Amino acid sequence: MIKILVIHGPNLDLLGKRQPEIYGKITLKQINTALENLAKAKKVKLKILQSNHEGEIVSIIGEAKGKFDAILINPAAYTHTSVAIRDAILASNLPTVEVHLSNIYAREEFRQKSLISPVVCGGVYGFGIDSYILGLNATILLANPIRNRISNGAKKNARKTE
Ligand code: DQA
Repeated sequence: MIKILVIHGPNLDLLGKRQPEIYGKITLKQINTALENLAKAKKVKLKILQSNHEGEIVSIIGEAKGKFDAILINPAAYTHTSVAIRDAILASNLPTVEVHLSNIYAREEFRQKSLISPVVCGGVYGFGIDSYILGLNATILLANPIRNRISNGAKKNARKTE
């Protein structure tokens, strides 16, 4: 079974109470439940973590190789500052998707630069909780490379015609 590591960065534990005019009223627990439901439907396994500590996030990513097939991350404020998280993602060599609840490119200038974007496969931002849903779908696709999807599809079709 495909295993995906989901990382929520600093202050995301405060969702629901934190700047609801930007992040909405949804809580981290509700986001995680939606992710778990999608994972169940797609038959993938998630490990979900939230940390307010850069070093902890670096260590978690550092240990991910061999244990997970892909990473979904909202690096939160570290998006704009963390060379260490960027290097950890590069070192992990795991396909990674970056998500943000808000459209970081429509906000303050300092948020418009992501140090993480150049080292991930792609990103989703600006859709609130749906950034995570779209992001997890993308992560599942990445963890299940197209050649597998094509050959699985071909096998299914072959079975149908047998
Ligand atoms: C965020 C955007 C970041 O700029 C901010 O520091 C966050 C949340 C988002 O999900 O929109 O904490 O990553």
